[in-house]
Amino acid sequence: MFQLKNIRLHKILHIPDLIIEGNRITCITGESGGGKTTLLKLLNRMKTPDAGTITYLGQPLESYDPVQLRRQVVMMAQDSLVFPGSIRENLLIGLRFSEKPGVSDDVLKSMMEMVKLRKTLDEDPSNLSGGEKQRLALGRVLLMYPEVLLLDEPSSSLDEETESLVISRITDYVHKRGKTLVMVTHSKALAESIGGDHITFENGSPKPMPGGA
Ligand SMILES: Nc1ncnc2c1ncn2[C@@H]1O[C@H](COP(=O)(O)OP(=O)(O)OP(=O)(O)O)[C@@H](O)[C@H]1O
Ligand SMILES: [Mg+2]
Repeated sequence: MFQLKNIRLHKILHIPDLIIEGNRITCITGESGGGKTTLLKLLNRMKTPDAGTITYLGQPLESYDPVQLRRQVVMMAQDSLVFPGSIRENLLIGLRFSEKPGVSDDVLKSMMEMVKLRKTLDEDPSNLSGGEKQRLALGRVLLMYPEVLLLDEPSSSLDEETESLVISRITDYVHKRGKTLVMVTHSKALAESIGGDHITFENGSPKPMPGGA
C-alpha cells in the first residue's frame, strides 16, 4: 500500500526501504523521539521528506491532491484534540473537514458504544477525562471509514481492560472492512498480540521484528 525508499527527513528519519502492506495491521514501536509520529505524518503528507520517494497504491504521494489523500488516509494525532461544541459536533467534525455527508444520531451513538464512550451527544466534551477524549478522537476518525487509518498511540491513556476492548474493536473493524491500519504503540506486548506486521524504530530507522513482515 505504501512503499518508502531512501527517505531522509532532517536528522529525524532515515528509511532505506520500507513497505507497509494493505489490508493488514502494522504496529510501530520504538523509543520516545525515535520518529514514529513523524513517519505517520509522512504517510498523509503532513510532512514532506527532504529526500527519497513514498508511493501510495503505486503512485507517488505528491501526485495526489492533499485533500483527496487525507480523505483516504486519516490520522488520529497523539494528543487527542477536542474542538469547541458538543460531543455530537466533535464526532461529526472529521466528516465535515473531509466534505463527507453527516450521519444520524443513531450512528453516532453506536460509534460511542463501539469506543466505549458512555456520554450523551449534547454534552460538552471539554471536561472529559484524558482517556475519554482519546476515545472521542478515535470515534471521530472511525466514522470516516478511511481506507487507511493512522493511529498514534490511540490507547495510551486507557486502563488495561478498556485498552484491550477498544483495540480488539478497532482490529475487528479493520479486518471486517478490509481496511489498512498503521498504529503506533508504546507497548511491544500489544503490538505482538495483534498478529500483524511489527516494525520498531531505533534512531530514526526501522527494524523489522521477528515474526513481522
Ligand atoms: N518540526 C520539527 N522540527 C524539528 N524536530 C522535530 C520536529 N518534529 C519532530 N522533531 C524531532 O524529531 C524526533 C522524532 O519525533 P517524533 O515525534 O516522530 O517521535 P516519536 O517516536 O513519535 O516519539 P514519542 O514516542 O515520544 O511520541 C524528535 O527528536 C523530535 O524532537
Ligand atoms: Mg509520537
